[in-house]
Amino acid sequence: MKLSLQHVLIVILIVVSVCPMISADDGYNLWMSYRKLDDSAILKEYKQAFSSIVIEGDSETLGIVREEVKKGLEGLLGADVPVLSTLSKSAALVIGTSSQSQVIQELNFSNELTLLGRDGFLIRSVKVKGIPAIIIAANEDVGLLYGSFHLLRLIQNGQSLTDVNIHSKPRIQYRLLNHWDNLDRSVERGYAGKSLWKWDELPGTVDTRYKDYARANASLGINGTAVNNVNANPIFLTAKYIAKLKVLADVFRPYGIKLFVSIRFSSPLRPASNRNSRRGGIGSLETADPLDPDVRRWWKEKIKEVYQSIPDFGGFLVKANSEGMPGPQDYNRSHAEGANMLAEALAPYGGIVIWRAFVYDADVDPDRAKRAYMEFVPLDGQFHNNIFVQSKNGPIDFQPREPIQPLFGAMPKTPLMLELQITQEYLGHSKHLVFLAPMWKECLDFDTYAKGQNSQVSRVIDGSLHNYPMTGIAGVANTGSDRNWCGHLFAQANWYAFGRLAWDHNLSSEEIAEEWIRMTLSRNDDVVKTVKSMMIGSWEACVNYMTPLGLHHIMQAGFHYGPQPSYAKSSRLDWTSVYYHRADSVGLGFNRSSSGSNATSQYFPPWRQRFDKIETCPDEYLLWFHHARWDHKMQSGRTLWDELCYRYNIGVDYVKEMRRKWTTLEKDIDPDRFSHVQEKLATQEKDAAIWRDTCLGYFQKFSKMPIPEYN
Ligand code: GCU
Repeated sequence: MKLSLQHVLIVILIVVSVCPMISADDGYNLWMSYRKLDDSAILKEYKQAFSSIVIEGDSETLGIVREEVKKGLEGLLGADVPVLSTLSKSAALVIGTSSQSQVIQELNFSNELTLLGRDGFLIRSVKVKGIPAIIIAANEDVGLLYGSFHLLRLIQNGQSLTDVNIHSKPRIQYRLLNHWDNLDRSVERGYAGKSLWKWDELPGTVDTRYKDYARANASLGINGTAVNNVNANPIFLTAKYIAKLKVLADVFRPYGIKLFVSIRFSSPLRPASNRNSRRGGIGSLETADPLDPDVRRWWKEKIKEVYQSIPDFGGFLVKANSEGMPGPQDYNRSHAEGANMLAEALAPYGGIVIWRAFVYDADVDPDRAKRAYMEFVPLDGQFHNNIFVQSKNGPIDFQPREPIQPLFGAMPKTPLMLELQITQEYLGHSKHLVFLAPMWKECLDFDTYAKGQNSQVSRVIDGSLHNYPMTGIAGVANTGSDRNWCGHLFAQANWYAFGRLAWDHNLSSEEIAEEWIRMTLSRNDDVVKTVKSMMIGSWEACVNYMTPLGLHHIMQAGFHYGPQPSYAKSSRLDWTSVYYHRADSVGLGFNRSSSGSNATSQYFPPWRQRFDKIETCPDEYLLWFHHARWDHKMQSGRTLWDELCYRYNIGVDYVKEMRRKWTTLEKDIDPDRFSHVQEKLATQEKDAAIWRDTCLGYFQKFSKMPIPEYN
C-alpha cells in the first residue's frame, strides 16, 4: 500500500496529539493512578472479595464515590467490577450510610457510627445473609467518600483485607489549604506554574482541573480551601468575583470541601489610587474602624451577599497589620476587636474567622521572634468563639528549622490553627527534594509542657489539651498549573503528607512516605526501600546544607532561594541576614537567652531553662538561642566552627547519596519521571554545594579558622 504525504502527515498529527494523553506517568494522576496490582496472591484475594460494588442511595457525593471506587478497583484488579444497587449472591463491597442503605442499617452499627462524627467511617468485613462483604459505613456521604479513598489506599498498598476492621475519624476538624494565589494567576511563593484558578474564564468556563483538584484533596480528607493570597486583593468580595467564587464552591461541595476567602481588612474603604497598594478597598467609606457602625453594617451586608451565593461558605482568612496589610491597629483597635467584628457578622451563617498571628511590628520588641507572642497572648479570652488564631509553626517564618512558636500552649482560651508551609519557600522551591513530614512531625510531637508533660503541639491543635471548641490546621499549598501539579514530582509527597497528618497526626513520616511511594512510584519492595531512605533524611540534610545548628534567615533577599549571609542593607533590619546570624570575631548566633533578648522566657519550663543555658540547649537550636563562641564545645566534642563545617558537608553528602541511589533505580522507574528527578537532583547537588561554600566562606571571615577536610 502506498501512503500519500497527506496520509503520513495525518498519522503524525494524530500521534503527536494523542501522545501527551497516553503518557500515563506524567504525574497528573498524583497518588491515584490505580495501576494494576502484580502480586497474584493478593490480587486473587481482592478479586474474590470484590466481585461487585453495591451502593445504595443517591447524591452528588455518592455519584463521585461510585465513579471513584469503580475506576479504582477496575484499574487495580484489571477486571470489570459492576456497580449494583442490591447485593447479589457473591462477595461484594457494600458502601452506604444507615439512612440510605438497608444493608448497613440492618447490620446495626449505630453505636460505633455515633462515635465517628460527620467525617469518620468504618471499613469492616462482615457476612450479610451468609454472603461475605466488605462494608464502608458512615454517618454522612462525605464519610463514605473518605472511607472509599481509604480502602483504595489499602489496596494500592497491597494490604490484606481478611477480617479488616477499621474505625477512622479525623483528629482535626478544619483541614485546610491556603493558596497564596493572585488575581493575575501569579502565585506568591509558588513554584509550579501559574495559579489553578482562571479568574478571567470564570464563571462561564469551568476548567476540568478544579474537579481533579477537589478529588485529590478529598482523597486525603482535606475539607476546605482559601483560594486567594493572604496579601489579599479586595476585589474578591465584589459581586463580579462572588459569582466566580460560587462556581468554585459548587465544584468543591460534593467533595466535602468548603471555600474560604482571604480578605483585606480595609475593604469598606474606597479603592486606593495605586492598584498595587496593599491599602484601600472596594467600598465608599472613609474608615475601616471595626467599631464604626457603618463599617459593621458594610461587612454584614457583604457577608449576606456572599452567603446568598454560597450557602456553605467557610469564612475569612485575614492577614492584618502585617507586612503593610491594613488592620484594626490602624484605628487603635486590637486584633480581637477587628476579628470579633467579622466573626459577629459571619456567626449567623456558621462562618468562621481565621486571624493570622504572623505579625512582627518592630515597635513591640527588638527581637522579631518575640513579637507575635507579645501581641497575642494578652488577647487570650477576648476572641469570639468562631475565631481561630492561625500561627506558623515557628516564631520567624517557615525557616528550614525553627523551634516552635511559643504561642502554642500559651493561648488556652483561643483555638489556635497551625499553619504549615507545603510550598518550599525556604527549602529549595520546587527544585530540591525535601520531604517535609519529618519537619511537621517534629513540630507536632514537640512537648510544650504547657500543662506539664504530654502537652504536645498536636494536642494543642487537636483541641485535647485545652478543650478548644473547634480545631484546625492549614497548609500553604504547593499546587499550580504544571502538569504534575507541584513542579517537582517529590513535592507531591508533601501535599500528600500534609493531608494525611491533618487527618491523623499520629501517623509516622515513614508510613506516609511508604504509602506515597507505593501509590505513586512503584510497589517493588527494593524501590520502596531505596526511595524511602532518600526521602526520610532529606529535610535534615536540607537544614544542614542551608542553616545548620539553629541558623536562620540567611537566604537571598526577596527570592529566598540561595544563600546570602552577607545581606545587611534593607528597609527593615529584620529582613537582613546579619540581624539573624550576628557573626563576629567572638562567635555566631542570636542571643535570645536571659542575657540577650530573653525570648527563652516565652517557653514553658523546663524548655525555658533548657533553651536558656548554652550547656543544655539542643544543638539544633544553639545559634537560634545563643551567640556561641567559635571554639564552643558541641555535644559531638567538636568546636562550633568544626561542627558547622561538618554539618554543611554532611548536608551536601546526603544530596550526593540521594543522587547515587536514584541512579540505581533507572530500570524500575518510568523514563520520564526518572530523568525529571535526576535533573532536579543534579541541580540540588550543585545548589547544596553553593550554600555550603558561600556560608562557610563568609563565616570563615569571622572565625578565621581553617575548614577541615571531611572525606
Ligand atoms: C513570608 C513570605 C511572604 C508572605 C508572608 C506571610 O514573609 O515571604 O511572601 O506573604 O510570609 O505569611 O504572610
